[in-house]
Amino acid sequence: MQAVSNKLAERLSDAPTTVSAEYKPRADGSTMKALAWFGARDVRLVDAPIPYITEPDDIILKVTGTTICGSDLHLYHGEIIQLQQGDILGHEFMGIVDRVGPNIQNIKIGDRVVASFQIACGECSYCKQKLSSMCDRTNTSGLQNVMYGHRDAGFFGYSHFTGGFPGGQAEYVRVPKGNVNLLPIPDSVSDEKALFLSDILPTSYHAVVDTGVKQGDVVGIWGLGPIGQCAARFALMKGATRVIGIDSVPSRLLFATERSGIETIDFSEHTDVVKRLQELVPGGLDVAIDCGTFHQPKMLLHKVEKALMLETDVSEIVNEMIRSTKKMGSCGLIAAYAGYTNHFNIGALMEKGIRLIGNGQAPVHKYWHELLAMIGAGKLDPTFVVTHRVSIDEFPELYESFDKRVGGVEKVFVETKFSSPPSAGAPRLSRVADWGSELYIV
Ligand SMILES: NC(=O)c1ccc[n+]([C@@H]2O[C@H](COP(=O)([O-])OP(=O)(O)OC[C@H]3O[C@@H](n4cnc5c(N)ncnc54)[C@H](O)[C@@H]3O)[C@@H](O)[C@H]2O)c1
Ligand SMILES: [Zn+2]
Ligand SMILES: [Zn+2]
Repeated sequence: MQAVSNKLAERLSDAPTTVSAEYKPRADGSTMKALAWFGARDVRLVDAPIPYITEPDDIILKVTGTTICGSDLHLYHGEIIQLQQGDILGHEFMGIVDRVGPNIQNIKIGDRVVASFQIACGECSYCKQKLSSMCDRTNTSGLQNVMYGHRDAGFFGYSHFTGGFPGGQAEYVRVPKGNVNLLPIPDSVSDEKALFLSDILPTSYHAVVDTGVKQGDVVGIWGLGPIGQCAARFALMKGATRVIGIDSVPSRLLFATERSGIETIDFSEHTDVVKRLQELVPGGLDVAIDCGTFHQPKMLLHKVEKALMLETDVSEIVNEMIRSTKKMGSCGLIAAYAGYTNHFNIGALMEKGIRLIGNGQAPVHKYWHELLAMIGAGKLDPTFVVTHRVSIDEFPELYESFDKRVGGVEKVFVETKFSSPPSAGAPRLSRVADWGSELYIV
């Protein structure tokens, strides 16, 4: 799939952008540790050149905190096209400013900042509305332009389908358009609270806001990984009276009931999720949000069709959501999808008047000031979802264990040689090999 898409992309040629993805190395040839993709389930820690200022709007960060995301698992499984061997992954990171380009006015060397997972230009019509993930000018992928009719913003560490920018699962990272894509963090906010402004907090908040959760709603959330757990919290914050989370990982179901007090459905026990939801909520959900993953089909039919490349994505969750939601209710897709799916229940969507919303890649810039203010005021503590802390040296093992959801893992803080010690109450450094024995094979 990668080879074919890369060949096709070559023939379509690059779409014009205002930034280049390639970085210049430092003149002295010094290197850093970085996590790179080499194939399905094959990621390796490599020595890569340390980036240097390449364009006048660049900022180079020393990474003080990074992490792994459910979206990285799509790359790990080889489900996202236009990956190339040696691509440095990672789209969620924070750091200390090490170098600034000559055009940078608002940020200086030594500042502590978090990056948005998307690279926005700050000037196009989408960026002016803070819809940073929809930026028109930073993603070179001609293939995405053809497949989607338009292209999203460029993303860090997320294949050449999203611009081919080297990511932040590394000791250093180049941030193009550093003047707009970094948020300064006050000293009073710890690294473990700040890091997740790069993605999971704005993403889960956007899912809840954009799908329209309001006071008194009954909300269903498919998938209780970090995005689902945070979306459940935000739904409660917006006044939902009931939140029902659906998953099959025992530790994740327990986490949701114990830490957030929501109801859950274990889909390995209740194989007919729609029937179970109809028992629990006879009139139907007001809002359903997909926080799951498209690379984990349940039905043999989808497994076979995916294997034969007759579809790339799976419609199981979206069909369950449409059937479980009340007439004229809303369903949101914040979970990432990449291409085409079969057996989509278009009839139920139309006949029930379901508002099906593709939430898109979350526009981080639209929300990160508001969320930082919530954290500062003590109204939001993202550390509830952080279960482990590991060293960058363990990234390959972390990919494997996060994929298999070993040891009750939710979100992980990954430290580098530039990190501060863990803050009070945050997880201490652990070795992936020592995580608990609970194993859930996908
Ligand atoms: N739109 C965005 O901006 C954005 C940003 C970040 C992540 N995402 C996406 O959000 C999703 C969740 O991210 P995460 O980090 O929590 O991922 P994760 O992989 O840790 O969690 C996904 C969860 O979904 C569960 N699941 C799988 N199949 C299911 C099914 N049929 N029904 C119910 N649950 C099911 C899994 O058991 C798992 O616990 C991913 O698809 C990710 O790519 C989107
Ligand atoms: Zn992410
Ligand atoms: Zn833009």
